[in-house]
Amino acid sequence: MGRPTLAIRVPATTANLGPGFDCAALALTLYMEVEVEKADAWEVVYEGEEYSGLAGGEENLIVRTMQETARQCGAEAAPCRLTVRSDIPLGKGLGSSATAVAAGIEAADHLYVLGLSVEEKARIGSGIEGHADNVVAAIMGGAVFSRYRDGELETVHIPHPHVGAVILVPDRPLATEESRGLLPDTLRHADAVCGSAANGVMAAAIAVNDWELAGRMMERDVFHEPYRTRLFPDFDQIRCFAREAGAYGTAVSGAGPSVFVLTGAGSENVIAERLAGKFLSYRPIAVRASSTGAAAVTV
Ligand code: HSE
Repeated sequence: MGRPTLAIRVPATTANLGPGFDCAALALTLYMEVEVEKADAWEVVYEGEEYSGLAGGEENLIVRTMQETARQCGAEAAPCRLTVRSDIPLGKGLGSSATAVAAGIEAADHLYVLGLSVEEKARIGSGIEGHADNVVAAIMGGAVFSRYRDGELETVHIPHPHVGAVILVPDRPLATEESRGLLPDTLRHADAVCGSAANGVMAAAIAVNDWELAGRMMERDVFHEPYRTRLFPDFDQIRCFAREAGAYGTAVSGAGPSVFVLTGAGSENVIAERLAGKFLSYRPIAVRASSTGAAAVTV
């Protein structure tokens, strides 16, 4: 094998942060790394057991994203061999598919010399994902609040969130489509107004670095958690315990099944240990918010 032409690193992300359904997301210090080299045919090799069942050819999501990105820019997508290493739990609500999409866009941009701006990358990624939360944070890093409709994307990017988190990862994966299938078609107007206010206050609190208030608002979702948490029998106990342990707030991570616990920067390891001793069916991962989004790195 020759030297890789390029290596891309992309963070894991947690979406929604409670009331920011399909809008809010935070990049985390857990990463996927993709080495890319030009080849005669498309090939994707995953290192590690967790990802070994994923498609290794043209059906692969990173490959499809590279091809689609090139197509949208009117460029030719020359085939590549990709080697992927990832610390991001697969199918556990930490944006693993959005990370793959962000990696594909970044790889295509470098390899096919497309000259895409970060906003263009985020718009292409949102189109592929269908909503603009995880993928925008995976591309930009930091915290993001986005509105995406009919190909139009508006994002506010908060580049350096100084905060920690514990992700509680259960054994079983949960498909996003299955979890979205639990949501109702309509919501009472008064409830939607309250949920929208909670997301607005949370976004403003994050922008001014008031994580305590952000954590309180994170626990005021009405858009999805009331319908999804029946899949998490111990969600309320985790929320109470985490608060007593000093966390700012607890939410379902993306579509689940992981649980996201927001902590002060520097408290994440202690709180992770306490949660580990109490909720034995989850694997806790202590992280910080990641300021870096998808980017080429030296290997
Ligand atoms: N906003 C999405 C959801 C995130 O909660 O379904 C997962 O893709």
